[in-house]
Amino acid sequence: MKIAVIGTGYVGLVTGVCLAEVGHHVTCIDINEEKVEKLRKGIPPIYEKGLDVLMIDNIDRNRLKFTTVHKEGLSDAEVVYIAVGTPQSADGSADLTYIYQAAKDIGEHVNRDVLVVTKSTVPLGTNFQVKEIVEDHVKGPFKVEVASNPEFLREGSAVYDTFNGDRIVIGTETEEAAAILEKINEPFDIPVLKTSITSAEMIKYASNAFLATKISFINEIASLSEKVGADISDVAKGVGQDHRIGSQFLNAGIGYGGSCFPKDTQALVRISEEVEHDFKLLKSVIDVNARQKTTLFEKAKKRFGTLKGMRVALLGLAFKPETDDMREAASIEMANALTAEGAEVIAYDPIAMENAKKVLPESVQYAENIENAIKDATVVFILTDWKEIKEKALLFSSLFMKKPIIFDGRNCYSQEETEKVQVEYYSVGRSAVNERAIHDSNKQLAASF
Ligand code: UDX
Repeated sequence: MKIAVIGTGYVGLVTGVCLAEVGHHVTCIDINEEKVEKLRKGIPPIYEKGLDVLMIDNIDRNRLKFTTVHKEGLSDAEVVYIAVGTPQSADGSADLTYIYQAAKDIGEHVNRDVLVVTKSTVPLGTNFQVKEIVEDHVKGPFKVEVASNPEFLREGSAVYDTFNGDRIVIGTETEEAAAILEKINEPFDIPVLKTSITSAEMIKYASNAFLATKISFINEIASLSEKVGADISDVAKGVGQDHRIGSQFLNAGIGYGGSCFPKDTQALVRISEEVEHDFKLLKSVIDVNARQKTTLFEKAKKRFGTLKGMRVALLGLAFKPETDDMREAASIEMANALTAEGAEVIAYDPIAMENAKKVLPESVQYAENIENAIKDATVVFILTDWKEIKEKALLFSSLFMKKPIIFDGRNCYSQEETEKVQVEYYSVGRSAVNERAIHDSNKQLAASF
């Protein structure tokens, strides 16, 4: 099939490349000249496992093209995917400017009947608006159909997820439109769920809101576990063994970040308000997440009294491992709090440091490797559970720090292993290990009386 994809962000690029990989002829359209120039050479602007190889293969086979000219991609297209950004507006709702612009462009340039498929996460009802805009701009007696086909890709495993997803959701007004999308997706061999457009739009929000709820729930249980002396690792394991609950997304930590959960939960609260529904549960999920982001900082304050003048190593800056994405990463909140406190921050991430420099406070220094970050630090914070960080942070802290102290926001180590190497260790939802009964600054304070 001849397919156009508007927007080469995360979703658009992965969608376009994977559709080409299964044999479709895909043209990806983006207004950013510089980006398109790189894409033509097979250089992805994001870090995503396996994406570059698929890009180069399909460019070579002439199945994948990139252009800044809408007409070039749209005039011949049978199906057009909209995958532009829907950033968060100041009031928490989704900003649909790019969606509307894409709809207008489609209307102006298509030359045949067209199926417009929305991949971007959009408020309920947006697809009907898209249809109206396209219809208002078409220059012939062309039939316009719309479909909602939300994506459930995780950053870092987006290519894998495209070929191994749990389901493909297709929301359409007609059977014919659903049949086209089913055919396009046939090679992926993934179960298809056909619904109305509004249900498909809701499935996307509900899925992300539910996963975010799972995380905030386990983080609440973690806070409680700490207070009553339970161990969240055991608790999550025992809870997750119930198949009705499932073991995934029960890792307690410093809260969820990234481009989807924070934005989509906020947007769903706004959508609820518009129809006069008070989504209390989701509001609490958001509140718990905000609190969770500073939990390690609060613990450190309690331990040291103040972090002023201390050299603090921040390990792992991206919002999760295997990505260089800094959007809504807990490291931003942490670096801001530490800097405001007067600490000297030295940061390390395997691949996100270039992006981190754009969003962390200017005073933050960057280390070339974990060893350099830890060497002169008084305290180490682990914020992202990269494999490399898990393998090295505990060992290097015990080797290179005078009095090794780790605050671990991702529960990378067992209590036993930290006890063995005599590292003072604080994690989430578990009791501290090798904790000083009265910490040094308190001792000094006590001695002064
Ligand atoms: C998510 C959804 O998983 C995906 O289906 C949707 O399409 C886009 O949003 P992504 O944002 O890439 O994907 O990351 P994900 O792996 O889901 O993690 C999101 C955040 O939750 C990360 O900050 C992660 O560290 C955190 N998380 C995840 C936890 O704190 N605990 C967990 O158990 C799981």
